[in-house]
Amino acid sequence: MNLIFLGPPGAGKGTQAKMLGDRRGLVQLSTGDMLRAAAAAGTEVGRKAKEVMDRGELVSDDVVVDIISHRIDEPDCADGFILDGFPRTVAQAEALDRLLDEKAKTLDAVVVMNVDDGRLVERITGRFTCANCGEGYHDTAKRPAVEGVCDRCGSTEFTRRADDTEETVRSRLETYHAQTAPLVDYYKARGKLRAVDGMAGIETVAEEIDEVLENA
Ligand code: AP5
Repeated sequence: MNLIFLGPPGAGKGTQAKMLGDRRGLVQLSTGDMLRAAAAAGTEVGRKAKEVMDRGELVSDDVVVDIISHRIDEPDCADGFILDGFPRTVAQAEALDRLLDEKAKTLDAVVVMNVDDGRLVERITGRFTCANCGEGYHDTAKRPAVEGVCDRCGSTEFTRRADDTEETVRSRLETYHAQTAPLVDYYKARGKLRAVDGMAGIETVAEEIDEVLENA
């Protein structure tokens, strides 16, 4: 099964992609994670991307389409993947349609997570992540079972993202509404869209995703 998780920053795309990936053996493909890895590695693409990401704007379509096109060819994607944070513009969606065609793959569904803007700021500024395995947490909504120890891998190192400040979140939200929200109509017109209430608790959202995917 090949899926897209769509929604504003902080809607829960990464959280739910990891959970659904574990439940169904699907690979999570996060363009944000890939760009942050390129930035940490100090590649030219990564350095340029970091400047754009820190402003809350979008990296160029060509760069992200190229990254995804190569990544989908890896053997671990053969049994299915979840695109988390891609596509983000209509041009990226059209490029994805073309490359899935070329690779003889199909898109089964697009899950959109709806969350009010006010809640998103609170979610993002409270987010932290295991520095070892990438498991995501939140200051109030999702703390490790044992304080200071990652539930998934036992690491005691955690990080916060450079673009998770309140100012950058507001800019990311503006970018989402202007450039990414039109994808809701794009995929609705193609009969692929499945909407879930992203305001509910993490486990409830996970159950709703399973329900909307039953007939996908
Ligand atoms: P990216 O890394 O994709 O960030 P984003 O889309 O802004 O989304 P986030 O990762 O912030 O949020 P999320 O929806 O995954 O929420 P999460 O599950 O973590 O992109 C970063 C940047 O990279 C972009 O701004 C852009 O510059 C660039 N980029 C990336 N892809 C690109 C592309 N295709 N084209 C161009 N540029 C691109 O949850 C957030 C927090 O809330 C967590 O703490 C979590 O524990 C908590 N939480 C989750 N669900 C719930 C819930 N139901 N209830 C309560 N708390 C919850």
